Amino acid sequence: MTCFPVPGFQYTNGQLHAEGVALADIAASVGTPTYVYTTAGLTAAWQAYEDAFAGQDVTICYALKANSNLAVIRTLAKLGAGGDVVSVGEMRRALAAGTPADKIVFSGVGKTRDELVAALQAGIHQINVESLPELDALSAVAVELGLTAPVAIRINPDVDAETHGKINTGRKEDKFGIDFAHAGEAYARAMALPGIDPVGIAVHIGSQLLKTTPFRKAFDKLAGLVRDLKAHGVPLSRIDLGGGLGVPYKHEDSAPDYHAYAKAIAETVGDLGCHVTLEPGRSLVAAAGLLLTRTIFVKDGLHRRFLIVDAAMNDLIRPAMYEAWHTIVPVAQPAADAVLADADIVGPVCETGDTFARLRPMPPVAPGELLAFLTAGAYGAAMSSTYNSRPLVAEVLVTGDRFDVVRRRPSFEDSLAFEAMPDWLSP
Ligand code: LLP
Repeated sequence: MTCFPVPGFQYTNGQLHAEGVALADIAASVGTPTYVYTTAGLTAAWQAYEDAFAGQDVTICYALKANSNLAVIRTLAKLGAGGDVVSVGEMRRALAAGTPADKIVFSGVGKTRDELVAALQAGIHQINVESLPELDALSAVAVELGLTAPVAIRINPDVDAETHGKINTGRKEDKFGIDFAHAGEAYARAMALPGIDPVGIAVHIGSQLLKTTPFRKAFDKLAGLVRDLKAHGVPLSRIDLGGGLGVPYKHEDSAPDYHAYAKAIAETVGDLGCHVTLEPGRSLVAAAGLLLTRTIFVKDGLHRRFLIVDAAMNDLIRPAMYEAWHTIVPVAQPAADAVLADADIVGPVCETGDTFARLRPMPPVAPGELLAFLTAGAYGAAMSSTYNSRPLVAEVLVTGDRFDVVRRRPSFEDSLAFEAMPDWLSP
């Protein structure tokens, strides 16, 4: 059994390591379940973009929703990343982690007035507007504050990203962006409204794309629109192409071709005279993280063998929510001739949906043994919850032979501190 080839994670002397740190040591000191991220993995992911876009002037705004841990954001910001945020909480995290305001883009279909105020006051690079009512609201807020909002209008290009239905965002029936056919009207309104500077155009067709064809289709459509708008006097100088580049979760998945992606961008929008922004999330953080968990019981039933682990759907919801696959490996390297047998890997939460894998060929696993869910750095901790009154999962960042807890596991008292007993129920 070989480890999934992820930079930063490898078996050394029979034990899975994150860079120079044995995962068993992290489990002993921090407990489980715990997300472990490597600086090497984050750096390699960043480098893949740098290499592919070496000849092009693009700004990469990391989509914080994939992993909004401050230390992860800062690691990427230090490498040069900006931030793509979708809430005031994410915006404040980006700023707190050291992302410069002039490299922050604010996306999302439902920004509240308070969020628009906060974005304008922070002086961020761009607000991506997704509807005419949002445009009006932003104009009103900008006028009140005596500020001008740098705006990109997100267009819905009606292109199928050929990904999971829940993360396919650019079809005409999806809630995102302004209909392609309404683009002219939206820009006319943006140019007429006070406090709005319509500098850009934006698109994001979906997440976990392994092929570049849908990107090319959408970017091509957008390029035609930009030419048209420019011919009608819209002074567009920026184009934001969103995120979406996928990662291989399975051995047999082919990794997306970054150079083909960069080429598709150069060939479709390269001659528009617009500065290009990208908003990758998953592809920057997924492979750099794993979820470390301990096997509680091995239950051999009549029909199934269950490996019951201490991580659950509240810690990693992707399998329950998107039928997602995560490769699962033992932390102690299995013998080369270990016999594989099918097992269901499940958490302790009281739902059948709390199943990470069904009939997965696994080497022998003993109770108490540590397992790792690979490629879990994106949309793992960021989507975690406290369902079943389980504490929020802890997070650790590794660099070289050092590691630090970058989000501690809350105590039971921490969790209770958010609740209060009403007077009429107090003794
Ligand atoms: N920009 C916008 C406007 C987005 O909505 C998203 C993701 C991104 C950028 C980043 O996309 P990425 O590069 O990560 O594909 N929870 C799901 C994924 C949700 C993606 C939502 N939007 C999952 O675990 O698969």
